[in-house]
Amino acid sequence: MDRKLHRAPCHFSKSPPFRNKPAGISLPSFRFLRSSFLLVLSLVFLSSFLPGCGGSSSPSSPGKNKTIAFAVGGAPNEIAFWERLAKEFESRSGIGVRLIRQPTNTDQRRQGLVLALKAHQSDPDVFLMDVAWIGQFAAADWLLPLSGGLSPVKTKPKELFENVIRTAGTYRNRVVALPVYVDAGLLYYRTDLLEKAGFDSPPKTWPELVEMASKIQRRERARGRRRFSGYVWQGAQYEGLVCHFLEVASSAGGGIVVNGKGLLHVASPQNVRALTFLRDLIRKWRISPPSTYTEMREEEVRRAFQQGRALFERNWPYAWALHQDTESRVRGKVGLAPLPHFDTYPSAATLGGWHIGISRFSDRKAAAGAFVDFVLSPEIQKRLALNLGWNPGRRSTYTDSDVLAKAPHLAALSRVFENAVARPNLPYWPLVSAALQEHLNAALAGRESPEDALKQAEEAMNEIAARYESP
Ligand code: GLC
Repeated sequence: MDRKLHRAPCHFSKSPPFRNKPAGISLPSFRFLRSSFLLVLSLVFLSSFLPGCGGSSSPSSPGKNKTIAFAVGGAPNEIAFWERLAKEFESRSGIGVRLIRQPTNTDQRRQGLVLALKAHQSDPDVFLMDVAWIGQFAAADWLLPLSGGLSPVKTKPKELFENVIRTAGTYRNRVVALPVYVDAGLLYYRTDLLEKAGFDSPPKTWPELVEMASKIQRRERARGRRRFSGYVWQGAQYEGLVCHFLEVASSAGGGIVVNGKGLLHVASPQNVRALTFLRDLIRKWRISPPSTYTEMREEEVRRAFQQGRALFERNWPYAWALHQDTESRVRGKVGLAPLPHFDTYPSAATLGGWHIGISRFSDRKAAAGAFVDFVLSPEIQKRLALNLGWNPGRRSTYTDSDVLAKAPHLAALSRVFENAVARPNLPYWPLVSAALQEHLNAALAGRESPEDALKQAEEAMNEIAARYESP
């Protein structure tokens, strides 16, 4: 991968946790308000799955028997893309698609689907799933097998990234989800600002990133840009924090280790080094804003960078196309590189991405299968790459001449994907991840030392694992 500074076009170059009692609200009434809020939210969400209630993007859907419900979330441009696709599919196949719009945040998307699937509702028929929670859905037996003679899907796993299907889309030797797009964490940087400060390539190591970010942040702030930050990344208490922690930890020789008995090990010296580094970005070198641990998720991070308020950004590939938008303040001034590393350890990117699956409770399985084939078809996968800048799950997209000409960075990205670090594929991953998120975030906020945070996380994670692993 080319690490030199690049100008456009790219050459490869997405609330604070309720920890403290809010002022003026007594604890019982606050709890009451919060649970009432959650109840209302759940009802609103469930009602969106009922026929005729909200979320419909196809008022002209053909007969009820031929309409499927598709749950999908994302940034506004992504939802707009799915709306267009749903209409096209309807006009080509005669099968209507009712879009159930979900938020961007992966945890909220999962919770929404869990509500419907636990209740064995027939809607949604088909949905996108984060690689992080396919295992939970498969173990709960909510997903229709997508391989074998009875599958309503014709696309073969070998046409897609088979290794990703093996790592994330397979449960007990059955394919239950197919990759629509693959994600890996990347470093976005401002080519103009690095060059102006005399740096001719993006940072290869984390200490280099600190050095460059400190210098340029000082300059920009001296020019009156008081909200300018050296490095923005996902530090709020949610799945994205675990993703970036895993990247920094792996690039220090650490990571999340699961032994043969399902015991998890995170309290290693390498991981303490990584968490100390992340905390120091905010609290010692102050090149990442304090809002990092209260509100920074994908979209907050992307907006800060896109509004010209940051030098470096950690994000997924989707941010690229948005940074190049005509409205973007950083258009033509963005470079892409692998994330930095420590010492001689290799750079690491967390493997992310979203798979498509069909609900076992769907009453439109054949129609849902046809929709899955449509989304995974060479034509639509190519459009995902060209219109959204996503990394499609279909392998042939990467050798398509239009894609290579208009999105050359995709070819370079495939190397990052090959070495991407997967989160453990455990049916109870969302629970252990939630425990890890809580303690990582407490360390960033300065409430726990990195050592204690990781020790407490490991204990909590293993209590959860023991409940699921014991016969
Ligand atoms: C992206 C990734 C997903 C990850 C999430 C974390 O959506 O594709 O795998 O869990 O970000 O916020």
